[in-house]
Amino acid sequence: MVSMETLVSLCKRRGFVFQSSEIYGGIGSSWDYGPLGVELRNKIKRVWWRDFVQRRPDMLGLDASILMHPTVWKASGHVDNFTDPMVDCRECRHRFRVDQLAETPWVHYCPATKGNKFTIPAGEACSHCGAVRTLCPDCGKGELTPPRQFNLMFKTLMGPVEEDAAVTYLRPETAQGIFVNFDNVLQSMRRKLPFGIGQIGKAFRNEITPGNFIFRTREFEQMEIEYFVNPNETVEGRPADEYWHDRWIEDCLAWFRRYGIESDNLRLHEHARDELAHYAKRTADVQYRFPIGWSELMGIANRTDFDLKQHAKFSGKALTYFDDERKEHVVPYVIEPSAGVDRALLAFLADAYREEEVRGEKRVVLRFHPELAPVSVAVLPLLKKRDDIVRTAHAIRDELSRDLTAVYDDTAAIGRLYRRQDEVGTPYCVTVDVQTVGDTDKGEPADGKVTIRDRDSMEQIRVEATRLGQVIGDLLGGTPWAEVAGRS
Ligand code: GAP
Repeated sequence: MVSMETLVSLCKRRGFVFQSSEIYGGIGSSWDYGPLGVELRNKIKRVWWRDFVQRRPDMLGLDASILMHPTVWKASGHVDNFTDPMVDCRECRHRFRVDQLAETPWVHYCPATKGNKFTIPAGEACSHCGAVRTLCPDCGKGELTPPRQFNLMFKTLMGPVEEDAAVTYLRPETAQGIFVNFDNVLQSMRRKLPFGIGQIGKAFRNEITPGNFIFRTREFEQMEIEYFVNPNETVEGRPADEYWHDRWIEDCLAWFRRYGIESDNLRLHEHARDELAHYAKRTADVQYRFPIGWSELMGIANRTDFDLKQHAKFSGKALTYFDDERKEHVVPYVIEPSAGVDRALLAFLADAYREEEVRGEKRVVLRFHPELAPVSVAVLPLLKKRDDIVRTAHAIRDELSRDLTAVYDDTAAIGRLYRRQDEVGTPYCVTVDVQTVGDTDKGEPADGKVTIRDRDSMEQIRVEATRLGQVIGDLLGGTPWAEVAGRS
């Protein structure tokens, strides 16, 4: 498995992810997506939306606002329950989540070795004096305060005059925007249960211990679905909510596999009773084997009727569904598959990373699924001094870029250009050479063909430039390379 340092360095060097406000020294846990990062991110969101919203007859989309009525967060339980116990160091002022102290390596000035400084692995005692950690793990000197509850929501003021402004919050999850619009969607779109609402959007949490690159940040993006089911129905002899919960778990796992994540790097983690959120009947996390170890990639929770009931109680509006068959109003149960865009991106990146040896040379290649690759095609002229080659290559790129992310590059020799595209995961390179345009001085006619190179096998085929759009479209659409090669 690739290390986090390697990924962070590749991401910076090749324009995927930069530290936010870097020229000012950076700001903790905020990251900016560069030219390739934003393409990758957009493609992840696009295929998620296509597969889970656009293509499913039982799904609809929504884009709710980030700022919501403050009572939403009282009703949802976030004001009272969205807290972590934390402690502060009285010396260095660093803040820690109590439940993470045992997982943090700690600094120790060992009395048995004349006060030498050691960094001791998490949970272990000093091998010289046998001491266990009691002080601040970061500075090794300060006492820690008693635990205090710390709410993770970002507060903000809404209104032009600060003194009169209302306190509200940046949403810590996109889910509540869906719950408060349940009746709007139901009335306007006339759906029958079961149906779901999907949304992609930013969420904010004032995490006490953000870190591990884009794994845990204070500003992140979620792709969430609230799937409403009739709790009085049974499907295949099981309560509808339990049946749909399992279906969504399977669908989510299959989705990550479909876009290239190795099955061995995915597993399910069932929440134990004491791990469950206050609203959940059952939650299963999809975990990925990140460079930091197995960690949550997404959660799939059965939120029961908790949220709709709470919003009905706090708003005074009925949030029910009329069951025509049973002639009764019901409050739907909700299955919630909730994934982080940034974590998905990190997983796709880590899973795609390979170091290979090719003819005695090392090549780094990101084996992204073709639909996720930030650049779909790179068009490369074999000779940049030949105007006709350069012109043709530009024209091909312009044509391809109507439907795909296509780039032109002539800043190095061809071998180098291929390696660069491998390193950012471009599945296909197209080269334009002398044969494509012909050589009038030598009396060689143009054959109008270009070379397509496959990133993974590094094999090459020649196709007519006029068929290029179709061939690349087939390849990106999933036609195997061997089949396309057989036809050319
Ligand atoms: N609506 C349910 C919900 O928000 P969650 O488990 O707290 O559940 C869902 O978050 C997903 O959002 C996580 O599995 C993760 O992918 C992503 N996520 C949560 N907190 C995050 C953070 N601080 N940084 C990056 N991604 C985060």
